[in-house]
Amino acid sequence: MAVITEIPGPKGLPVLGSILDLRRDTLGTFLRIRQEYGDVVRVSAGPPGLRTVLHCVFSAEGAQQILASQAANFRKDNQFYEELRLSAGNGLLTSQDADYLRQRRLIQPMFTKRRVDGYAAAVTLEATATAESWRDTAEVDVVQEMNHLALRTVSRILFGADVEAAVDVIDRNFPVINNYVTQRGFSPANPPRNWPTPANRRAGAATGEVYAVCDRIIAERRAKGEDDGDDLLSLLSRAGSEQDGTLDPAEIRDQVLIFLLAGHETTATSMAFALHLLALHPEEQAKARQEADALPPDRPLTATDLDRLPYLTAVLKEAMRLFPAAPVIGRRSVEAAEIDGHLIPAGADVLIAPWVTHRHPGLWTDPDHFDPDRFTPEQEASRHRYAWFPFGGGPRACIGQHFSMLESVLALAVLLRSYELEAVDTEVPLAAGITLQATGPARVRLRARK
Ligand code: HEM
Repeated sequence: MAVITEIPGPKGLPVLGSILDLRRDTLGTFLRIRQEYGDVVRVSAGPPGLRTVLHCVFSAEGAQQILASQAANFRKDNQFYEELRLSAGNGLLTSQDADYLRQRRLIQPMFTKRRVDGYAAAVTLEATATAESWRDTAEVDVVQEMNHLALRTVSRILFGADVEAAVDVIDRNFPVINNYVTQRGFSPANPPRNWPTPANRRAGAATGEVYAVCDRIIAERRAKGEDDGDDLLSLLSRAGSEQDGTLDPAEIRDQVLIFLLAGHETTATSMAFALHLLALHPEEQAKARQEADALPPDRPLTATDLDRLPYLTAVLKEAMRLFPAAPVIGRRSVEAAEIDGHLIPAGADVLIAPWVTHRHPGLWTDPDHFDPDRFTPEQEASRHRYAWFPFGGGPRACIGQHFSMLESVLALAVLLRSYELEAVDTEVPLAAGITLQATGPARVRLRARK
């Protein structure tokens, strides 16, 4: 078949291209352009001189080519990753080439199945505390609540017994860093970082505080001869091999910040939407609760319980299909390449979008409908490997995916055992930043169970 060299796309406004549409409704615009122009679409945004041209790839085949089979040609060299690197350092999410390979080798052992299963105790401890805190409450906003729960959980696996020292600092500073990177990562022009603008100063101070708390905890542990724990901070401090050496203190802080950035809001969003969808769908909620109720009531849940929660796992996967926490993933091409029958030029900004592929009518029947049965093993096996890819894929796939699934499924089981949920808000307003963000509340009414 001939390769298409003229990639179709909207003309947009004469000078500004599609920038207003993208600003007004980023995610809706991507869905619409797929419907109108197909699976590979060229969009330009911004005035001449500051114009961004995006090559959007919406098919499962195209996503697989960019993330996996042609991954070496599609690098994290784009503006968003540059900004993230400058704000959050050269950690596992942002680094490339030799730095990346070295870091991944040193960090991978912290995310083996055995290690991750060991984090279950921290997960159930925090989820149980959340359930307890709801005792005298008739209604909660699950967006806020899951944000808090995910922050406490990731902080606990990072900092272990020092969680309380870290959690407030992170809670206060993290949104500042997050907003700053989102603003700069998607803006056509930014003031230099070393100018003393209010935004630069605020972000610098926020990063400084998070770094300082990491440094302080590491120093205190070393002074007490107590850096032999098995939280991530201790493991990072001790990581080393003959081939790769060790991580220096600056690299350790960068990894901590990256784990917080990559692992907090993403998991919170997935849990919040799963709970909200269950609150909207009583039948599916009852079915998920039946599984949770069948687990032994007299001990904390562990990783082995996951095998007994297949329906709840399917609910979470379906929530992540409809509301993928990373709705778009960006790369820049090195050389021209053929992607799904289209020629992508060299040096192009390329965007793949779980948000769109997960709702592609060629891959999913009745795509907007909530149906956890799409994730039975048979259904999963019958689909393209990249029809569902909330954790990315290929060599740069999410290192935290097993931890995140474990955390979310166990936490949902703890909450469903304790409460019946009924949705108050039917729609949750959304925005796309670094991650998908619920910008309004998702309130649910609670009925405590015996
Ligand atoms: C629902 C939860 C999560 C989602 C949806 C998610 C999504 C993703 C995605 C899409 C990527 C690939 C980005 C790209 O290719 O440009 C990624 C990478 C990564 N994620 Fe996650 N993530 C989640 C949870 C976590 C957690 C809990 C952690 C850590 C504790 C984590 C740490 C990372 C790291 C370090 C990378 C970079 C991996 C590498 O390049 O080797 N993520 N994540």
